[in-house]
Amino acid sequence: MENPPLGASSDKITARRMLAVNEEELQRIILDIHDGPVQNLFAALAQVNLAQKRRRRGETVAAADYDRLLARLSTLLEATLDEIRNFLGTFRPPDFAQRRLSEIIEGLLMHHEMATGCQVTLAMGKRPCSTSLPVKIALYRICQEALSNAHRHAQASHQWVRLTEEGAHIVMEIRDDGRGFEPPPLTGPEATEREEHIGLRGMRERIALVGGQFELHSAPGAGTRIIVKAPVDE
Ligand SMILES: Nc1ncnc2c1ncn2[C@@H]1O[C@H](COP(=O)(O)OP(=O)(O)OP(=O)(O)O)[C@@H](O)[C@H]1O
Ligand SMILES: [Mg+2]
Repeated sequence: MENPPLGASSDKITARRMLAVNEEELQRIILDIHDGPVQNLFAALAQVNLAQKRRRRGETVAAADYDRLLARLSTLLEATLDEIRNFLGTFRPPDFAQRRLSEIIEGLLMHHEMATGCQVTLAMGKRPCSTSLPVKIALYRICQEALSNAHRHAQASHQWVRLTEEGAHIVMEIRDDGRGFEPPPLTGPEATEREEHIGLRGMRERIALVGGQFELHSAPGAGTRIIVKAPVDE
């Protein structure tokens, strides 16, 4: 057999590296679609299901309630469209490079409240956090999925988000007073990393990719608390 020409093995290594990068990029795209448009559509569906239930029970819906429902649906569908348009462009949420993390999180909370009717309290440290673009995107997506999980699974009446800078870390905590759950183990057949559950796995992966840490505290009846720590920008 002929020896491969010089350079062939380094080509292979480069190709493998490219494949790894593409795999990582693909994972990011899947997570972005899951945490953005998919969660918006879940929230829209929940609103529709609620309205259907009320209709089946024969309840008359006041005009003001009806308007509120339509406004929420329209907010959610517009946001979904925006996100999809963004994916088709740069694969990243809009204006993140220019906007501060605090503004981005404030905007997200307002959107969540408007779209779901849930109440979220935001607490922020005085100093603005200095954050790189990847950290901003990771924290935004984690917050989006945590809020969405609390709305979808927890029947929470209230949610809290805290954003502070502690030493060399930005700390974000998302808490709800909902029904809580027994967090599954991180490995093995019962793990959160099961394929059908992308949300919690995605949070862990996103924060790991920016060199941060992830904690989840929950128990039945005790609500859920997620704490993520990411390095501040040097
Ligand atoms: N805040 C919460 N309160 C109660 N249960 C929760 C909460 N967050 C997650 N869970 C539970 O953990 C499970 C896994 O959540 P995860 O976000 O990984 O997947 P999912 O929300 O079911 O689906 P998706 O892949 O669309 O996110 C949920 O199905 C739910 O049972
Ligand atoms: Mg989820």
